[in-house]
Amino acid sequence: MYNGIAFDSVDMTLPAPTEEPLRQRWFMKRARLLLEKRSRELGRPLTAMVKTFGCQMNERDSEKLRGILETVGYLLTDQEEADFVLYNTCTVRENANLKVYGRLGYLGGLKKKNPHMVIAMCGCMMQEPEVVAKLQQSYRFVNLIFGTHNIYKFAELLVSALENDRMIIDIWKDTDKIVEDLPARRTYAFKSGVNIMFGCNNFCSYCIVPYVRGRERSRRPLDIIREIEGLVKDGVVEIMLLGQNVNSYGKTLEEPVTFAQLLQEIEKIEGLGRIRFMTSHPKDLSDELIAVMKQSKKICRHLHLPLQSGSSRLLKIMNRKYDKEQYLALAEKLRREIPDLSLTTDIIVGFPGETEEDFQDTLDVVRRVRYDSAFTFIYSKRAGTPAAVMENQVPEDVVKDRFDRLLRLVQEIGKERSSRLQGQTLPVLVEHINEQDTSLVTGRLDNNLTVHFPGDESMIGKMVPVSLKECKGFYYLGEAAL
Ligand code: 5AD
Ligand code: SF4
Repeated sequence: MYNGIAFDSVDMTLPAPTEEPLRQRWFMKRARLLLEKRSRELGRPLTAMVKTFGCQMNERDSEKLRGILETVGYLLTDQEEADFVLYNTCTVRENANLKVYGRLGYLGGLKKKNPHMVIAMCGCMMQEPEVVAKLQQSYRFVNLIFGTHNIYKFAELLVSALENDRMIIDIWKDTDKIVEDLPARRTYAFKSGVNIMFGCNNFCSYCIVPYVRGRERSRRPLDIIREIEGLVKDGVVEIMLLGQNVNSYGKTLEEPVTFAQLLQEIEKIEGLGRIRFMTSHPKDLSDELIAVMKQSKKICRHLHLPLQSGSSRLLKIMNRKYDKEQYLALAEKLRREIPDLSLTTDIIVGFPGETEEDFQDTLDVVRRVRYDSAFTFIYSKRAGTPAAVMENQVPEDVVKDRFDRLLRLVQEIGKERSSRLQGQTLPVLVEHINEQDTSLVTGRLDNNLTVHFPGDESMIGKMVPVSLKECKGFYYLGEAAL
């Protein structure tokens, strides 16, 4: 058995099976045999790295890709000087794309020094035909390109890339397939992302995600529960349920289930300490979910509730399907029902046609909701989305000025909100040794705030009671109260 795969029982004298995941296991074994030979010839182990751009969904995908790379015999590294390098890309905003091209130039240089190097690209950016055309034209050294829908086929694609000198390109427009039971190599031993659904059906007018991640599909509750039970057995105490819009989980299943019902089932899993989830679309957040969160012992007191804009006029053009008043009413209900809840959000500044008045509405919502923190983004034009062809794009200097004003307000309120916990002793799940000061460890509170305190490696993955001494804005300095 290796990473849950009994390779001895995979019969390589037969052709690759057609059903999944058996087919991928066959290709994993084939890749393993190829790489063993290559490694013997070179007289050294082969190394691989996966670099992630973008969101937690991509982080989780990268863990699955690393799981396969490890299973086929690569030694995982975080250095780009490796025999196999895979970039898992993001395209939600233009600067995500620019970063990828920048890094790719550097990889080309590395490949000149190591001709055995295999370079692969996957993720959201690859779903855009213009990107693939550009790679074909100007980045001929890339060996393998695949997209978001056929990521489960990575072992098979890897074999093609290892056996061929030409550039392998395999991009699907969409899929309704979900393949279970493939290996994953977690970044953290004690916490893990868990996909509960893929894709998005909302088509917010600025957003490219529905075009690159396809239609919404939910995993079956039993598959999710089985995965989490396995993770818990393997030492995981905190999970993050992942989906573009978790509140619409289960609607397309043969036997529909609500997100709140799924949470109740997950809550029953013994040994699991904390449940997080993201992202919640305000339009689909049900009273049932609030009730379940309220009585739960495991669901974290944190809700990420993207606002995008406070202007009802813009929200309509954004196709968000709620207005300012509905959002404020929802936030108020949440604060009333779960008083210690930490609320965070995403806000876009400079959406086409945004006026000072629209922007004032955004500031007004921020002041009234009082977010614990917020991700603020400058609107980025994404080709193919309805907003990209809207007239009256806002001039850059106006957007920059609004962005700065919003950031100042968000930070000021965030600081005030965070400091409310000063003096309390609360459980912290320790994540790692502090990078700047190795006498400290870093972890998170239930509400997602970061805490640094004196500690050592033995605390990693443990829930430690910490006295919160000093609030530094978006993080705390504390002391273990053991
Ligand atoms: N420009 C700027 N921000 C965007 N987001 C999505 N699309 C765009 C875009 N075109 C932001 C939204 C979303 C977050 C993940 O990214 O705020 O919630
Ligand atoms: Fe994009 Fe809207 Fe879907 Fe979120 S809900 S991924 S912002 S289209």
